[in-house]
Amino acid sequence: MKPKQLIEKWVELFNQGNAEKISELYHENAVNHQVVNEPIEGKQNIYKMFCNDFSKAEMVCIVENIFEDGDWGILEWKNPKGFRGCGFFNVIDGKIIFQRGYWDKLTFYKLNNMLEKMDDFFENRIDSYEEHMMSESHIRNGYIKFAELLPENSRVLLDLGCGTGLELVEIFKRSPAINVTGIDMSQKMLDKLQQKFAGKNINLIKANYLEYDFGKHIYDTVISYQTLHHFEYEEKIKLYRKIFNALVPNGQYIECDYMVFTQEEEDFHSEENKKLRMEQGIKDGELYHYDIPYTIGNQIMMLKKAGFKNVKEEWKEKNAVIIRAIKY
Ligand SMILES: C[S@@+](CC[C@H](N)C(=O)[O-])C[C@H]1O[C@@H](n2cnc3c(N)ncnc32)[C@H](O)[C@@H]1O
Repeated sequence: MKPKQLIEKWVELFNQGNAEKISELYHENAVNHQVVNEPIEGKQNIYKMFCNDFSKAEMVCIVENIFEDGDWGILEWKNPKGFRGCGFFNVIDGKIIFQRGYWDKLTFYKLNNMLEKMDDFFENRIDSYEEHMMSESHIRNGYIKFAELLPENSRVLLDLGCGTGLELVEIFKRSPAINVTGIDMSQKMLDKLQQKFAGKNINLIKANYLEYDFGKHIYDTVISYQTLHHFEYEEKIKLYRKIFNALVPNGQYIECDYMVFTQEEEDFHSEENKKLRMEQGIKDGELYHYDIPYTIGNQIMMLKKAGFKNVKEEWKEKNAVIIRAIKY
């Protein structure tokens, strides 16, 4: 095959997502160097690269131009979102011996929404959010269990990442007069909460709870439901210290969250988060949505490190776990 014909075949197989057949177009010792990544050497590794790429995102190549010059072919391409690039193919004896590709990785990730800003993530899903949460039995059951575990004498409650207030539905059934302060960074989630609980004793604050000052010795109970599985160790311990300080002496913090059961799972999510953030050039402290759940043991360790004396797992179903931490 001449370079132009080979590139046409390459595009056809690329658009089929056929890793096996596309790698057949390469010599055994071919090199594929997409300049945003390290060069990949050898047909087998090129095959693995295509398997990985095709599984990550929908890849579509629209040909803009194909040029040929001796044993070189040049492909100018775009995708349906208008993302553009070009590739140079050195073709010897009808197979690719060397390929170099030029495209912008950051634009690629942004166009593919690899990580979304935290508030955008929830606001973009506002219409389906509650249905999604309530469709999961372990989340649904957790709301009921969570309210049961609330101390009977709770009067002044702080709810971190209160969202649309799904956990408050059950809490108000048990304690209709409870005084609630809810903090969330999404105005749309808070607006929905406000509409649902008109007439209740609720004070809503739009803020990042990692930065907001909760004050000292104010709340008898602090809660969080499915919101804290996005942050690194240090950030969480700092937040737990703020919660500890905001509680009255015999106060309690009750958390229900997505947790994992092995260190390997925890490490996997944490590394993946770091990798994606680095690839997307996200700065420390910028809040993007990615799940980094911790093991139950590490959760308990962080709470104790923050000062809580009595920390206990109270309930779990699938990966939803409730932990109670008593101040003294
Ligand atoms: C999965 S929702 C849970 C909402 C509610 N607790 C529930 O169970 O329905 C997570 C919520 O946490 C909020 N959130 C995440 N990180 C936050 C932060 N650093 N500060 C304030 N709110 C945050 C999001 O905006 C979202 O509303």
